[in-house]
Amino acid sequence: MKEIDWSTLGFHYTEPDYIVRAACHNGVWEEPYATKDKFLHLHVSATCLQYGQEAFEGLKAFRGVDGKIRIFRWRENAKRMARSAEGLYMTPVPEELFGKAIRLALENNLDLLPPYGTGATLYFRPLLIGTTPRLGVGPGRDFEFIVIPSPIGPYYPGKFHCTTFIVNRHVDRAAPNGTGQFKVGGNYAASFRATEAAHALGYDCLFLDAKYHRYIDECSAANFIGVKGNEYLTPRSSAILPSITNDSLMTLAKEKGMKVTRRHIRLEELAHMSEAAACGTACVISPIDRVLDPEKNRTYTFGTEPGPVLTELYHALRDIQFGRAEDKHHWCDIID
Ligand code: PLP
Ligand code: COI
Repeated sequence: MKEIDWSTLGFHYTEPDYIVRAACHNGVWEEPYATKDKFLHLHVSATCLQYGQEAFEGLKAFRGVDGKIRIFRWRENAKRMARSAEGLYMTPVPEELFGKAIRLALENNLDLLPPYGTGATLYFRPLLIGTTPRLGVGPGRDFEFIVIPSPIGPYYPGKFHCTTFIVNRHVDRAAPNGTGQFKVGGNYAASFRATEAAHALGYDCLFLDAKYHRYIDECSAANFIGVKGNEYLTPRSSAILPSITNDSLMTLAKEKGMKVTRRHIRLEELAHMSEAAACGTACVISPIDRVLDPEKNRTYTFGTEPGPVLTELYHALRDIQFGRAEDKHHWCDIID
């Protein structure tokens, strides 16, 4: 049994005992297997290294109030990874193989599943890489699928607390018809100049659409959500990742009688919102206290405490994930 202080875990990597791997050659996937070997024997000219042929995912397993293990909406992650694979000319991982690999990673690392009540969870990082050696520019035909489990605490330390965002019009995360809708490593590398500049000032980065720099795209590596009266607002954009957390929150918002709208959202509309937040698997909901727009010399303020609507949605989702509320939509797969 590993000695882990669950209460102080942040969003950091803890080495698991086992990872899970499966290879694919010429369109045929092999069976996944668990291994203690965390190193790849990878050709220096592999397409993932040379041309960024790589995609990844992020999902969580929860130890519930009833002691049962729940994996949240993994089929949605499998589908999204298949879309990312197609977006980068990779052979998609079949949904069944994806599910089998997640279960294997869980079963082989049960001591890494944080106990109920700690707020920590077991995060899975599925990864798909191109392994064909190539120097000529083009996609490969060989791939490796890997699932790396790691227990994690909150993405933003301090539990459910507010973060401040700063607008950057000089670095675009993804082009309107580019790869922003896919979860591929290149998007994150492309965002580092902006996110690191924001961190240096003590903020997170708010990305606007790359064409007009007018509409809200993404909050760092998370979707944006805002509350305006009884309306749940979230951006429609071809450059943002379709967040599974956001999709779940939209369902919960509708259930509580809110109007849910997905449309282009001008930055200035923040002035008319009562609450705003970033949402994603890692942070769930991270309320925003302020958004700074230094070029326009404007600050949008939401207050230093999380607002009531997003607080309610946060707890509604967490209650389903931890088995405290009925899972009406069958979002959780229970593992006995
Ligand atoms: N947007 C980006 C760029 C992300 O990396 C993530 C995290 O996966 C999200 C949004 C949130 O997506 P999800 O809720 O599926 O984790
Ligand atoms: C998320 O899982 O919510 C993310 O933002 C992914 C990030 C840690 C890469």
